[in-house]
Amino acid sequence: MIYNDVLETLGETPVIQLRKLLPDPQDKIFVKLEGANPSGSIKDRAALNMVVQAERSGRLTPDSTIVESTSGNLGKALALIGAVKGYRVVLVVDPKTPKTVLSYATSLGAELDMVTEPDANGGYQATRIRRVQELVAQIPGAITLDQYNNPDNPRAHIQHTAPEIAKDFEHLDALVAAVSTGGHLSGLSTGLKETFPSLHVRAIDAVGSATFGHPFAPYKIRGIGLGWTPGNLRTDVVDSLHRVSDTEAFSTCRVLAAEEGLLLGESGGAAVFAALAYATENPGRTVLAIAPDAGANYLYESYDDTWLCEHGTDPDSLWRSGDDLLRNARSPQYPAAASTVSAPGSPCSPAPTEVYA
Ligand SMILES: Cc1ncc(COP(=O)(O)O)c(C=O)c1O
Repeated sequence: MIYNDVLETLGETPVIQLRKLLPDPQDKIFVKLEGANPSGSIKDRAALNMVVQAERSGRLTPDSTIVESTSGNLGKALALIGAVKGYRVVLVVDPKTPKTVLSYATSLGAELDMVTEPDANGGYQATRIRRVQELVAQIPGAITLDQYNNPDNPRAHIQHTAPEIAKDFEHLDALVAAVSTGGHLSGLSTGLKETFPSLHVRAIDAVGSATFGHPFAPYKIRGIGLGWTPGNLRTDVVDSLHRVSDTEAFSTCRVLAAEEGLLLGESGGAAVFAALAYATENPGRTVLAIAPDAGANYLYESYDDTWLCEHGTDPDSLWRSGDDLLRNARSPQYPAAASTVSAPGSPCSPAPTEVYA
């Protein structure tokens, strides 16, 4: 297939049915592989839609600079879009941003602005966001896309990702998706509940994240969770919440890779673990889990025993077999519950806290 540019390869990502890791042979559990997008994650969809809508509104012009705070996939997506469309992209990063993200971004011509001062809570999110505000004020023609509150983030999923899924499934009982900005969960839920009115939507958060109003504590899963509740999280379209631990997510990643040949990112592992738990509670249902990125991003981190040891996780504490995974999915550490959340907050007030890496 011939494309005009690499951005045209975005979307139409594959959906894979689990074959071995099923609580019951009648279960139908599917995983949508968003790592197949051109910069390697679901963030390509939100980033491109936010850029295109900013162009249409006249906020973004050919000599504009895009300034964004990122610790991962959004930065990769913007670096790629900037390279194709010719925008200067400045990414505000911190000392915990993975080296692969930094190298990917600079290889595509993005500039890095590294903050080094932790904020009052020992993390960098609030410092990064304040630095973005400074840079936007300093650089002529600079804009920031504000993925946490920009409605064009969830709209990308209402308009593109949800119709893709609706085309693939005649019937869907449950959607399981991880939350950071809330963009893909809110957008997919809004779009898919129109097609499948009885769809159950289960949000996945990391144990330790404060997104849904729990007290913050450090955790290791990358890509999900926040120290506050983002404006793009629409709790009115969320039916239940499953908080997944580092051990549950990392173990699921490893077992899925070995047993199904699916090398998922950490948040994808969390989503599949929650899908298995949902299927255990609701036998015979058709469940779709969204895997936001691929395991290639984490091969030298959570897939690596030495890295785990160095970061305080004993690799022997992870489960290694499908039987162990299914047994743990039957009794998760934090069983799913109705979701409760405080009003959306802001990263600069009152208590943004450390999110690992
Ligand atoms: C790996 C990974 N998982 C999950 C998410 C959460 O996606 P959203 O921001 O749409 O809530 C992200 C977002 O950056 C991500 O990079």
